[in-house]
Parts: sequence; structure tokens; C-alpha cells
Amino acid sequence: MSSDKIIDGKAFAAGLRQRVASAVPAFVKAAGRKPGLAVVLVGDDPASQVYVGSKKKATVEAGMESFEYRLPDSVSQGELITLVEQLNADDGVDGILVQLPLPSHIDDKAVIAAIDPAKDVDGFHVVNAGRLAVGEDAFVPCTPLGCLMLLKDRLGDLSGKNAVVIGRSNIVGKPMAQLLLAENCTVTIAHSRTEDLADVVRRADIIVAAVGRPEMVKGDWLKDGAIVIDVGINRLAPTDGEHKGRLVGDVAFDEALGHVGAITPVPGGVGPMTIACLLRNTLVAAHRRAGLLAPEGL
Ligand code: GUN
Repeated sequence: MSSDKIIDGKAFAAGLRQRVASAVPAFVKAAGRKPGLAVVLVGDDPASQVYVGSKKKATVEAGMESFEYRLPDSVSQGELITLVEQLNADDGVDGILVQLPLPSHIDDKAVIAAIDPAKDVDGFHVVNAGRLAVGEDAFVPCTPLGCLMLLKDRLGDLSGKNAVVIGRSNIVGKPMAQLLLAENCTVTIAHSRTEDLADVVRRADIIVAAVGRPEMVKGDWLKDGAIVIDVGINRLAPTDGEHKGRLVGDVAFDEALGHVGAITPVPGGVGPMTIACLLRNTLVAAHRRAGLLAPEGL
């Protein structure tokens, strides 16, 4: 197995976090305060608790202020929106992240709509989605932003490449397609109703798989030399043969290695990029809100 085929997202994310952290002291000097990220967690979903804990740790490690709000499952939509409005009005808060999913009695669209777009470091607000679509400066959702950084790091110019994004979610698939289009790729968005997915994937120079179905993309679907970004994080059942609870992506990694030019592993590929991009977006939000020029090269 040739390791130069494996895209080390963990190392790239560590570098980005370092670049963010090293830009914080100059911001503190100019603005007289630290950049601040508020994270709101509703309920006690174990996976969300782990994500929120990791976000807090990374925020503090980057020299930023972390504000954490843990609300019970029973909180009403109105109470949650009131908290968001308080955070919008709080000058020490540059970024607001409401961890998804929310309990079923809360409409996540209404909550996201309440976030000030200037503090929407998740890039989920329709204003940011719209800005991305029309090519204006926008906060871009962290996972697709991280995927794009890994692709550009590996390929340089993406112009003219055939890119296939598998998955059409608002959080990953759609913004990913917009980002690739802005890089002059020819973009196809495939999804659960796509016919002959294997044939669609076979034409791709770049594949971003974000469907959440373990090892769905097979090695022989891939064009020789294709670059594969695997967003999937699927835990196989403890009863699943010899695999026993292993984490796998949406791409059959071992099979794919024989075909690809490069591929992100799971774990250690896209996952670490998401938090690093959240810190990057928070630093950019802080600069914009303070009327300062955001540092280049992030
Ligand atoms: N849940 C899973 N990923 C994310 C994310 O990137 N942002 C938020 N807010 N919730 C999530």
C-alpha cells in the first residue's frame, strides 16, 4: 500500500489549526479581545456531546474564547431562538453554532434563520448559502470547505475536471457542488435516485462521497487515477462479520486503493478538517466584525 495515495487530513488539519492559532494574538492586540465561538447543544445525544466537546477543546487550544450552552431536550423552539438572539447581540461572540440534529419538536430551519449571517460560522443560513451560490463572499459549511482544501492541496488547479458529488444535503453535497463549480469543475450531483451510479462515478476525476452508506462506492467504479474524498463516517454493527464495530467511509477503501490517484481514509481524512475549518471561519468572522482584514492563506 503506497502511503502517498493516502490524503492525510489529520496532518493538514493540524497545520490549519496552527495557522489559525498563530493569527489569534494579532487579532487580540488589534481588537482588545479574543475571537469567541458559542456552541449550543440541545439534549444529550452522545455523538453530539463528543463533537461539541472536541469543538470546545480545539477553540481553547487555538487561543479563542469558547462559550458553551447545554439545554435540555425539553427546551422550546422559542427559548432556543431567544438564546440565539442573545448571542447575536453579544459583542464577544463572533461565531454561533447550534449543533444538529435538534429534537423533533424544534424546526432547525427556524433556528438557523435566527442566527446573524455575520456570525453563521457553520454557513447554514440561507443568506450564506445564497452568497455562495452567486459567488459572493460567504461563510461556507466547514465539511465541504475542508474537502475543497484537501483537493486543492493535492491537485492544485481543479479547472476542467469532472467532479461527481454523491449526496445532495444542504450541509455537504450542495455547497460542495457550488465550491467545485466555482473552481471551474464540471459538476454532477448524484443521489439516491441516480440511475447507473457506477457509470456516473466512472467518468469522474474527482469524487466526493457524502451519502452515509458504508462502503457503497466500489473500487471498480473508479477511474484510474481519480481523487476520492470520503465524507462518510459509518460505524459497522458489532455483529457485522469480522468487521465488528469498525468505522468505515462511503467508499470501499481497500478496493479503491488499487484504482485511485489518492483517497482520504476514514478516520483521519475529512473528519479533522471540519473542526479546523470551524476555527478558520470563526477567526474570519471575528476579523470582519471588528473591521479588520482577515489574514491571508487560511
Ligand atoms: N452536526 C453534524 N455536523 C455538524 C456541523 O458541522 N455543524 C452543526 N451545527 N451540527 C452538526
